[in-house]
Amino acid sequence: MQTISDLGQVTHLSDEQCNIIKNMAANMQVMADISRADMFIDCLSPDKNAAIVVAEASPSTAPSLYRESVLGEIALEKTEPGVLFSLKNGKSIIGSRGISQENIVMQQDIVPITDPSGITIAVLIKEHDISDTIRNEHKMKSLLKSTDKDQKQEIKQSLIIQELHHRVKNNLQVISSMLRLQMRRSASEEVVRVFSDSLNRIASMGKVHDYLAKNGFEEVDVTFVMEQIGTLLVSSSTTSEQSIEISVKGKPLFLPSDKATSVALVVNELIQNGIKHAFHTTSVGKIEIKTNIRKQMVNIIVSDNGGGMDHSVYTQNSSSLGLHLVEMLVEEELEGILSVFHSNRGTNVSLTFPITNKVME
Ligand SMILES: Nc1ncnc2c1ncn2[C@@H]1O[C@H](COP(=O)(O)OP(=O)(O)OP(=O)(O)O)[C@@H](O)[C@H]1O
Ligand SMILES: [Mg+2]
Repeated sequence: MQTISDLGQVTHLSDEQCNIIKNMAANMQVMADISRADMFIDCLSPDKNAAIVVAEASPSTAPSLYRESVLGEIALEKTEPGVLFSLKNGKSIIGSRGISQENIVMQQDIVPITDPSGITIAVLIKEHDISDTIRNEHKMKSLLKSTDKDQKQEIKQSLIIQELHHRVKNNLQVISSMLRLQMRRSASEEVVRVFSDSLNRIASMGKVHDYLAKNGFEEVDVTFVMEQIGTLLVSSSTTSEQSIEISVKGKPLFLPSDKATSVALVVNELIQNGIKHAFHTTSVGKIEIKTNIRKQMVNIIVSDNGGGMDHSVYTQNSSSLGLHLVEMLVEEELEGILSVFHSNRGTNVSLTFPITNKVME
């Protein structure tokens, strides 16, 4: 979040009016994160012919529509008619569509900011990418034109499913940004650890919906998703002294989305365990994931070349959630079996479960 420093000079607003704008600007980063949109505050120039961008925040939860800062830039009536309109007559404009500087279709929402006497001193602007919505609208249009009834039904269904996954993905992102905000407020290491474990779990589930929202299939290539989760976890959870190599071996393995989500969560826990517990005595290590399908049975092995588990922990350490979650997901959700092998040369966790429904190999 950035605010221009000489607000009073640039805008000719009073100190009290400038403070109202600064207070609003202080909350803009949270607004940008939660709405996954770029946020701006614009004021009227002293000659009332242009708007000046006095504060901006780009979302950390979605790509920004802008490559560079526009702070301090001047917008004229011709380029920003809505902003000038709202600044001059104090009315909100919600849902207008336009093209961003980077040629992305976006929606702009503008609401006035007033002082205690009701005078409009600035406007708050939200801009977000709506290219997905537009794409779906186009598909909907061609769907309505199409005459083949079966084809119509099929397109409609895939559009609905894709939209659902988009929404789930977006909701997960909003939940993550709320957790991250709460996490930042805590000074306790334990609380931060618990929050970051949950954030990783949500991110791993998010990868499945990400795949579905992008590809629009009903099935997910879990080999691909596991690679994404592995890269994500190694970059977010390893310390600077650690050097952990992760590899995923196996052909594409397509599973229905509910099974894929369970596999994503299981693999998330097992990789995190490898990163957290396997390499106490050394700073370099390898984690390997292998997938295999034979006669309608899927086998996934997550192994590391670390120091192995302490014999007593797996059954007795009931306060830990990870392996219990893994066991529950494998047995109840995947209807499979879990085996854990470990020695002083590493830990090896294998899960085997049947594939139901259609599978592509
Ligand atoms: N790959 C591994 N190498 C060495 N020890 C492991 C490995 N995986 C698990 N362990 C041991 O098993 C214990 C239980 O693992 P589990 O995932 O259930 O809990 P946790 O990782 O300690 O906590 P949580 O997963 O709830 O954050 C760990 O505390 C660790 O001692
Ligand atoms: Mg664990």
